Amino acid sequence: MSAAPKQIPPRAGFEWEKLAFDLYPTSGFAKYVWTAETGEWGPVEWVKEPYLNLHVGNVGLNYGASVFEGLKAFRHADGHIRIFRPKDNAARLNHSADAVSMPALPEELFLEGVHLAVARNGDLVPPHAPNAVNGSLYIRPLMFASGANLILAPPSEFTFIVYVTPTGSLYGAAGTKAPAIDAFVIEKFDRAAPRGNGSAKLAGNYAPTFKHAAAAKKAGYPLTMHLDSATRTYVDEFSTSNFLAIKKQADASQRKTLVVPESESILKSVTTKAIIQIAKDFGWAVERRRVLFQEVKDGLFEEVAACGTAAALTPVRSITYHDSPETTKKVSIGDGENAGPGFLSILTQLTGIQSGVQEDKHDWVWPKAGVDGSV
Ligand code: COI
Repeated sequence: MSAAPKQIPPRAGFEWEKLAFDLYPTSGFAKYVWTAETGEWGPVEWVKEPYLNLHVGNVGLNYGASVFEGLKAFRHADGHIRIFRPKDNAARLNHSADAVSMPALPEELFLEGVHLAVARNGDLVPPHAPNAVNGSLYIRPLMFASGANLILAPPSEFTFIVYVTPTGSLYGAAGTKAPAIDAFVIEKFDRAAPRGNGSAKLAGNYAPTFKHAAAAKKAGYPLTMHLDSATRTYVDEFSTSNFLAIKKQADASQRKTLVVPESESILKSVTTKAIIQIAKDFGWAVERRRVLFQEVKDGLFEEVAACGTAAALTPVRSITYHDSPETTKKVSIGDGENAGPGFLSILTQLTGIQSGVQEDKHDWVWPKAGVDGSV
């Protein structure tokens, strides 16, 4: 990378104000292949069409050896593009890869692939706006078993790709004015078993939630939530994101307490890690522990939010659950309508750092000088 990275301006004529959480055409994606023959990841290849040519017996599609990541790139006021905490995603990808017997990917290759995919699609990073209200470039690293095998065993070839798409917010508005949404606890299905793979970002952890999430959405709940599968008494997470809460205070002068559920079945969110640090920087107390769903029912939380790369920090204004097989009960959070001030202040700080209008004192954005459009 050169000392003075080449800037890539946003694409003229693109309707940034209409940006959805969707896939848009891009200039291509980065691809690496690992083979048993070499025992290594090969050099990067740039693929222009959004397609892959795969053997029908590939283990990724047949047996679910497929893991992914989600991270974002933002345009700062100096016109340069920077990516939020990619090294954390590199580490988590390897945790997920190990869960389904795939080879580890060196951090430098992860960063190279992410950088290349962003640099060659830099015109799709939305124009700078404080707190990223114009959206961001969503980056999707994906690793899967591309080799073929009929037996249940890792094949001799794996593929790692990085593709991107410009995105607005997953729920409601990007930036600081997130509207609060309604959540529904899924009763008929559990996301992850104890000693299972809930902490890994396996492709297979997501598709089984689709039909339940679609039914909930139809009933007016954009967000679905999972309890622990062993006892159904603890909060695990939402189908798309982590669960976070702020404890109800006796009076407004008290120090705020962020509550973060701890469970081996929860995805280790990079955004949650950042929010814990921001809460500490604000002087809040942080409790990382098992969270009883009864605490939600008893109204012990003044705010709840969904937290992840795509969700950012989405306030939750109610949680509805089955109190019997036939009936449901709704717990209102805060005023039951609007986002509370605690999570909005954290969201403002998070998106401020991501968009470069707040100091990056924990060294989260990368590369410091900006993405280099000359690669
Ligand atoms: C992300 O937040 O990056 C995810 O992978 C969640 C998915 C709903 C897009």
